[in-house]
Amino acid sequence: MFAFDIPADTPAAERWEEIGRAAKAMVDGEPDGIANMANVAAVLWQFLPDVNWTGFYRMVGDELVLGPFQGKAACIRIPLGQGVCGAAAATRATQLVEDVHAFEGHIACDADSRSELVVPILHDGQLLGVIDLDSPTPARFTADDAAGCEKLAALIAPALAG
Ligand code: SME
Repeated sequence: MFAFDIPADTPAAERWEEIGRAAKAMVDGEPDGIANMANVAAVLWQFLPDVNWTGFYRMVGDELVLGPFQGKAACIRIPLGQGVCGAAAATRATQLVEDVHAFEGHIACDADSRSELVVPILHDGQLLGVIDLDSPTPARFTADDAAGCEKLAALIAPALAG
C-alpha cells in the first residue's frame, strides 16, 4: 500500500515537489513502464486539484497511443502534430493552453475540458510520450505547474521506458 497525503492548501510548486517524491517512491524498483504510468496517473489525479483528466499518451511507432489515465474514456490514437498532445510530441515542448477552445486543432475528448497542460517525456534523447492534464477551469495551469510537471517527467522517465 502507498500512503501519501498533500494538504489542500499546499502551493503549486511545493505540491509538485511532493507529487515528484510520491511518484519516485512508487516507480523505484519497478521495471514495468505501464504499471508505473498507471500509478503516476493515479497520484496526479489524487493530488492535483481541479482536474478532469490526468494521464499518459505513449509514442508507438509514429503516433501517440492512449496510455494509463484517470478520467473519462479518451481518444485512442493522436497523430504527431494534431491536437495539444500531438503538438507537444511534435515540438518536444510543453504546451500550456489556457483556453482549449482557442487552440487550433484541439481534440475534445471530454467536453468539460477548458484548459490543458501537456509535457513531453524524454529519455536518452528519445520521446517516450506525453503527460496530459486537463481541467474544467479556464487557465487552471500556471508556469509553476508546467515547471513542476516537467521535473516530474524527467524524474520518472527512466521508469517508463520498460
Ligand atoms: N485534448 C487533447 C486530447 C487528449 S484528451 O484531452 C485526454 C489534445 O488536444 O491533444
